[in-house]
Amino acid sequence: MPGTTGTVGLIGSGMIGGAVARLAVAAGFTVVLSNSRGPETLAGLAADLGPRARAATAAEAAAADLVVAAVPLTAFDRLPAEALAGRTVLDTANYYPQRDGHLPVLDDGGLTSSELLQRRLPGARVVKAFNNIAFSHIVGLARPAGAGDRSALPVFGDDAAAKAEAVRFLDALGWDAVDAGALAESWRSAPETPVYVRPYLEELPAEGVADFLAWVARTSGSPVPAGEVAGLVEKAVRLPAGETRLPSRP
Ligand SMILES: NC(=O)c1ccc[n+]([C@@H]2O[C@H](COP(=O)([O-])OP(=O)(O)OC[C@H]3O[C@@H](n4cnc5c(N)ncnc54)[C@H](OP(=O)(O)O)[C@@H]3O)[C@@H](O)[C@H]2O)c1
Repeated sequence: MPGTTGTVGLIGSGMIGGAVARLAVAAGFTVVLSNSRGPETLAGLAADLGPRARAATAAEAAAADLVVAAVPLTAFDRLPAEALAGRTVLDTANYYPQRDGHLPVLDDGGLTSSELLQRRLPGARVVKAFNNIAFSHIVGLARPAGAGDRSALPVFGDDAAAKAEAVRFLDALGWDAVDAGALAESWRSAPETPVYVRPYLEELPAEGVADFLAWVARTSGSPVPAGEVAGLVEKAVRLPAGETRLPSRP
């Protein structure tokens, strides 16, 4: 586990990776950003995040003390598995068959998407985190430890030490965490479960919104404390993965 002087590697520096990187820099971590197109394409984000951030290759990001894989599930095959051996890897991915293409191994309910990632990264210790909240709300709802309106996120993992590391990282970033079980249980925070995105939304304006996703992106979110997160995770009912829909409406 890095202290706030440690390094955090982002494999994937888009909406989710960028939001986590922003909080990590604010918490004092050094951040190594990466994507699929190369470090030069991340110069703007690195400059925006300031001197604690730099852009590098995915293999270099994999050498950080803690790694966040904020990539689409379709990129799992292209992650630097050897470089990630021995690392704790936070997995933010969600499976939307309509977007990602159908994967029978996930559709038949045999594996969760995080178990699939764990198989692709056999030497790493995968922890599911940050998948059940809109990227804008990761930043908008972060609060210092002890704040009355601090929110929580569920974490899932098979390795207790890695999960504890993830919990400490979330805490440093401004979040409580709820240990919600093993990777096999991570369907409980998948799209369309009770804890997925919706609880963290602000109340919709009475007049409605023309573009729901754009509205989510410009709002800060609504706090969800740890006890409520635990209850929502508990209430989840497993749906066939093929039934998930892309979120265009609340
Ligand atoms: N956006 C949200 O609010 C949100 C919330 C919760 C969970 N998630 C989930 O988190 C995952 C990432 O979502 P996102 O919205 O952050 O996506 P995004 O904005 O499209 O960013 C994806 C990032 O992954 C990088 N990437 C793709 N293939 C890669 C590879 N082989 N090696 C290294 N980097 C690679 C992309 O780099 P290039 O651009 O160079 O290809 C990009 O930086 C998805 O599974 C999504 O469902 C998203």
